[in-house]
Amino acid sequence: MRHLRTLFDLSPAEVKQILATALTLKTRLAEGDRTPILPGRVLGLLFEKPSLRTRVSFEAGMAQLGGSSLFLGSDVGWKTRESASDFTRVIGQYLDVVVCRAKGHDRVEELAQFNALPVVNGLTDLSHPCQALADMLTILETFGTCSGKHIVFVGDGNNVARSLALICAMLDARFTLACPAGYEIDAPWIERIRSEYPDAQIEQVRDPMPAVADADAIYTDVWTSMGQEDERAERVKIFQDYQVNEALQAAAPKECQILHCLPAVRGEEITEGVIESPQSAIVQQAGNRMHAQKALLVWLIEPNWIAENVK
Ligand code: CP
Ligand code: NVA
Repeated sequence: MRHLRTLFDLSPAEVKQILATALTLKTRLAEGDRTPILPGRVLGLLFEKPSLRTRVSFEAGMAQLGGSSLFLGSDVGWKTRESASDFTRVIGQYLDVVVCRAKGHDRVEELAQFNALPVVNGLTDLSHPCQALADMLTILETFGTCSGKHIVFVGDGNNVARSLALICAMLDARFTLACPAGYEIDAPWIERIRSEYPDAQIEQVRDPMPAVADADAIYTDVWTSMGQEDERAERVKIFQDYQVNEALQAAAPKECQILHCLPAVRGEEITEGVIESPQSAIVQQAGNRMHAQKALLVWLIEPNWIAENVK
C-alpha cells in the first residue's frame, strides 16, 4: 500500500514516472482522448480547510478518468464523531484513495498508519506534495527538463516551499529561498533532504535581488497561510521587502518564469503586473494540478496502465 504523505514517500524515479504520465495524459486530453482508465473507482476528498484548485482538480481529473469522487466535509465527523481507527477502516472499504487536507500534518500520518487505503496529502501545515508535482510539470513543459534549473522562492519557508525544496533535490534542480530571518525552512526538513539527497543544491538567503540574477523561475506564495490569520498584520510588515514585483522581475533574466501556487493576494506578495506579465505561468501551473494528480491517481490505482502506455 502506497501513500503520499510527503514527497519523501516517493523515489526520484517514481516522481519522474508520474510527471511523464502527466504529460502523456495531458497530451491525450488535448487530442480529445478521455479513455476511462479508472472506471468504477472512487476517490474521497476529506478536507478540513478551504480549497478551489485541489478539490476541483481532483474531482474533475477523477471524472475524466472514468471514476467518481465524494467530497467529505465536516458532517462526516472525522476527528469529532468517532475514533480515527474506526473512521479510516470504514472508509477503506468504500473508497480506493482518499485525499486529505488537514489542519495538522499528524492527521494525515494518522490516516495512513492503518493502511486501510492509499492516503494522499492535499495540503497540511508541513507540506503540499501535489502542488510540487504540478510545479515541476510546469518547469518540465517550459524547459524540457528540471535538471539544473534554478528556482528561487521568495517569501515564507512554508508548506509549499518545503515541498518545492524537496522535489528540486529529487530532480537535480537548484532551490533558493529568499526570506526574512526566522522564516526559513526548518532545520529538520533541510537535514532530511540533505541526508537522502547529498547532492541537493539548497540555499537560504536574505536578499532576493542577487538570488534571482540567474533564476529560471521565481516562485512565491501568500505571506499568511491558512491557520495563521492571527499573525497577518505582523507578517505583512515582516515580509514587505519580499514582494515579487516589477523591480525584482527586472533583476532576473528576461525569460525567467513566474510561479505562484494560488490563491494570491495581489498587491501583497506579488503585484498585479507580474501576475499578468508574459513570463507568468501561474494559470498554466494551476491547470497542471489536474494533470499531475490524474497521473498520481493512475500510478496509485492502475500502475500497469503506466507500464503499458508511458515511455
Ligand atoms: N494551490 C492550492 O492548493 O489551491 P487551493 O487551496 O485552492 O486548493
Ligand atoms: N501556504 C498556503 C498555500 C495555499 C495553497 C497555505 O497553506 O494556506
